[in-house]
Amino acid sequence: MTFHPDTLPDLKGKVFIVTGGNSGIGYYTVAHLAEHGAHVYMCARSPEKGTAAIANIKKMHPSANIDLLQMDLMDLTSVVAAAKHFLTLETALHGLVNNAGIMATPFEMTKDGHEAQWQTNYLAHWVLTEHLLPLMLRTAKTLPPGSVRIVNLTSSGHLGAPKGGINFKDLSLEDSGPWPRYGQSKLANILHTKTLHKTYGPDSPSVRNGEGEIWVSSVHPGLVETNLATSVGESGSGMMSVFSVLRMFGLIWPADKGSWTSLFCAASRDMKAEQSGTYFEIFRRFGEPRWQSGAAKDEKLAERLEEWTGEVMRKEGWAIRPTVNRTPANALSRVAPLVSLGLAELEVVVPVVDGSEAAVGGTDEADEEAEGADDAVGVEAVAPEAEAEAEDAFLMSMVKAEVDNIAKL
Ligand SMILES: NC(=O)c1ccc[n+]([C@@H]2O[C@H](COP(=O)([O-])OP(=O)(O)OC[C@H]3O[C@@H](n4cnc5c(N)ncnc54)[C@H](OP(=O)(O)O)[C@@H]3O)[C@@H](O)[C@H]2O)c1
Repeated sequence: MTFHPDTLPDLKGKVFIVTGGNSGIGYYTVAHLAEHGAHVYMCARSPEKGTAAIANIKKMHPSANIDLLQMDLMDLTSVVAAAKHFLTLETALHGLVNNAGIMATPFEMTKDGHEAQWQTNYLAHWVLTEHLLPLMLRTAKTLPPGSVRIVNLTSSGHLGAPKGGINFKDLSLEDSGPWPRYGQSKLANILHTKTLHKTYGPDSPSVRNGEGEIWVSSVHPGLVETNLATSVGESGSGMMSVFSVLRMFGLIWPADKGSWTSLFCAASRDMKAEQSGTYFEIFRRFGEPRWQSGAAKDEKLAERLEEWTGEVMRKEGWAIRPTVNRTPANALSRVAPLVSLGLAELEVVVPVVDGSEAAVGGTDEADEEAEGADDAVGVEAVAPEAEAEAEDAFLMSMVKAEVDNIAKL
């Protein structure tokens, strides 16, 4: 499918929040939403950067209605404060784009006691979403389906998550290297999407109980020229040489185009109810793997992650709502948590015309190579040499898969 932001409808009267809006993909997401008349809250950790970004957008679109919402995702107190402040300002919220992120940064713990990528990319967005959901549901109740949406930015880098997907024994992955840490956090974004969809999406208990319908998606934006790679530490530099080669061949999208899939999911009229809950990568290109991992499709893993997150966030005082008892399957996952951590195999995902995707179960060949990719990085507590080998093997599996894909064209 194709999509262009010019086809977005008139968004006057609609309110959106975009995290990480001062730079890269988030900046253009804010710009296009505002260009179409939405009132957009741009989240930025630096008020100076946020103010400058808003001024720049206003130069392009003088009537843009954008406000700054200061929030540092490394500091959950500031996330909760920003959400509460927003709730004093608005009575409706039509779209939340959980976009901000960091990639393959050196190991660091936040003052809240969580690993930096895990908190920035996943936990803080979970907390933000948790605080905004009641308003989003209230907004949705009086509007047609598809009027209220959540978009979680993920990445094909989720394929680099550790074996089993989420390492509940040591979520900080201190010894596993920056890419597995990035992969785990980006996998969590996909699993969070599945849970939100199951709870609030079309045909969910929320809809059946008349409590509001929210469409949710996870987006891999493509390989995009932004500031994301600037914080990659030395130990993550192997992967960066692959990006340099792709850049040399002009295979990286400009930041504007990187925002288009998010915009489709946040506000396009062409998104369909049956696409809620899915993983979108509308604009694919050479150099990117074409699959979701098996872990990304593992519903029990999604349930286990939601239980872990809800419990820990409530214990630490960041979550407001009581545990939602979602499905009978949820109860099952409590008694068989280890089953949910079994290595799930990868499947080939092919795009269909309407932009959603169809898992075709995977040919034997695809299964083998995909499992190879998962195995290659699926290690807990790896030694530095093993880490380098794992990264090399992951890169090779990506390149091999791409070459195979091209051969099949
Ligand atoms: N670029 C790609 O090729 C690519 C590929 C796959 C997925 N993604 C995903 O796309 C999303 C957007 O990234 P991007 O490529 O546009 O990168 P970017 O230009 O670096 O933008 C990231 C944004 O997140 C913000 N951010 C980082 N840490 C934060 C914190 N602690 N608190 C608040 N805001 C914080 C940054 O703020 P500062 O300006 O203050 O740092 C910036 O506004 C990320 O989730 C990324 O994982 C990107």
